[in-house]
Amino acid sequence: MPDSNTRSAWQKLFAHAAQQRERHLRELFAEHPRRFEDFSLKSGDILMDFSKQRITPTTLDLLHELAVAADVTGWQRRMLAGEAINHTENRAVLHMALRTPESLATHPDGPAIAKEVAQGLARIAAFCSAIHTGAWRGHTGERITDVVNLGIGGSDLGPRMVVRALAAHQQPDLHVHFVSNMDGADLAPLLARLNHRSTLFIVASKTFGTQETLANARTARAWLLAQSHDPTAVHKHFVAVSSNVEAAAAFGIPAANVFQFRDWVGGRFSLWSSVGLAIALAIGFHHFEALLAGARRMDLHFLEAPARQNLPLTLALLDIWNINCIGAASHGIFPYSQSLELFPAYLQQLEMESTGKSVDRQGAPMERKSCPILWGSPGTNGQHSFFQLLHQGGQPIPCDFILLKHADFPLPGHHAQLLANGLAQSAALAFGQTAAEARAAGIPEALLPYRTFPGNQPSTTLLLERLTPQSLGQLLALYEHKVFCQGVLWNVNAFDQWGVELGKQMANTLLPCLAGESCPAHLDASTRGLLQALQ
Ligand code: F6P
Repeated sequence: MPDSNTRSAWQKLFAHAAQQRERHLRELFAEHPRRFEDFSLKSGDILMDFSKQRITPTTLDLLHELAVAADVTGWQRRMLAGEAINHTENRAVLHMALRTPESLATHPDGPAIAKEVAQGLARIAAFCSAIHTGAWRGHTGERITDVVNLGIGGSDLGPRMVVRALAAHQQPDLHVHFVSNMDGADLAPLLARLNHRSTLFIVASKTFGTQETLANARTARAWLLAQSHDPTAVHKHFVAVSSNVEAAAAFGIPAANVFQFRDWVGGRFSLWSSVGLAIALAIGFHHFEALLAGARRMDLHFLEAPARQNLPLTLALLDIWNINCIGAASHGIFPYSQSLELFPAYLQQLEMESTGKSVDRQGAPMERKSCPILWGSPGTNGQHSFFQLLHQGGQPIPCDFILLKHADFPLPGHHAQLLANGLAQSAALAFGQTAAEARAAGIPEALLPYRTFPGNQPSTTLLLERLTPQSLGQLLALYEHKVFCQGVLWNVNAFDQWGVELGKQMANTLLPCLAGESCPAHLDASTRGLLQALQ
């Protein structure tokens, strides 16, 4: 049983935590002058400073003992050899092959998968070229000026976030939009602005069975047909990204317009697959390739760097320390970059859908807490709303600060101010302000209780050279591999998501009630009352 393999490592960690938990970062910095040198790592374009975590060298030793006991490297091998490590869906987990095909050296079908990946990329490249050069035109011969990605969850959040993040690399004369919600308020105002002759819809759905995406796709198709009066227009204005070609064909999208991907690519890990079509169209195929190359660089680091130098493993272990030993229940993500404004939302799915679970790989209740609640927004905006709670709310909330050395949209003076704020917040959170310091700064005695800051709020700072397709690829792969490591360390399957199913089923049973048909007899009083109020 994996849990028995790790039990002693966990116990040692907990014993250490009992002595260590209350120690203050001020004290830890005072006793360890080389903290930054000893607790920072670099890989590619990312410098990771974790010296403001509440750890000592012994903490790190014990965390790495846990990683060995949990057999992180063994699980890496199993994943890359094609074992169905997503055991509840009997699926392999091979998204790394999409950017690092050579990682499948031990996979029996490695060469065939590599060939398929290359062919898939060649199709995306050819399609991008056709759209960008105007070789692909709408049904009346007009160039495509607008692309609408209809998808949700992993078929939306990753591509939407990347396209937003790489705004500085946009293709000219092509607008890429994203619609995910079945609420008409998402699609309707956009359709009102679009010209059907020059709009291309991408129906992005791995299963091609997701209610929201199909509702939006049907409405978009009806809009196109109503405007064009041409039943063949769908062939020029709809493509699909899916692993279910039959369902796409049944919808009316010919196989030639379907960009496939395999079931070994999980939805939240799929932006590297043909789900990235919207990205490649928005920023150009060469930039999409650079994104993949960045992820590849992090993949190779993850697979080859020794544990002590390994960024994803270290990031995962720090979370274990904060959640399981310090008791953190939430985790703030603060990119000091407006371009990364959607990064927290993307990470919410990546992490909370992966490890937001309380049953282990053996089907038993987990002995320890797993994924915290992830949240965040770009700095400095958050400083003027919820940072108050981080500074004086009395709860341990670890934070990731993401800073860019160079601005992607430089304006005189702006970037230095932004960086100064990012650095100031992580330092203020770590070290706080004592009553003596407040007094020395001239704070009146009566206000001292309000003007002291306890500090000791742990954080990691990720410093990127600049925000480019390459560095973004590295950043995203860093977090993906962190999630993989956490799944291993917590002994949880990070690749299924059964928790999303119950609500979907219930929505299907409630739909007829809203249409005035009879409702299931077992409906609870609250839902029944609300339904009556709606009728
Ligand atoms: O409901 C959750 C989920 O299954 C996600 O895991 C997935 O990314 C999303 O729905 C969309 O699924 P699909 O790409 O099949 O439409």
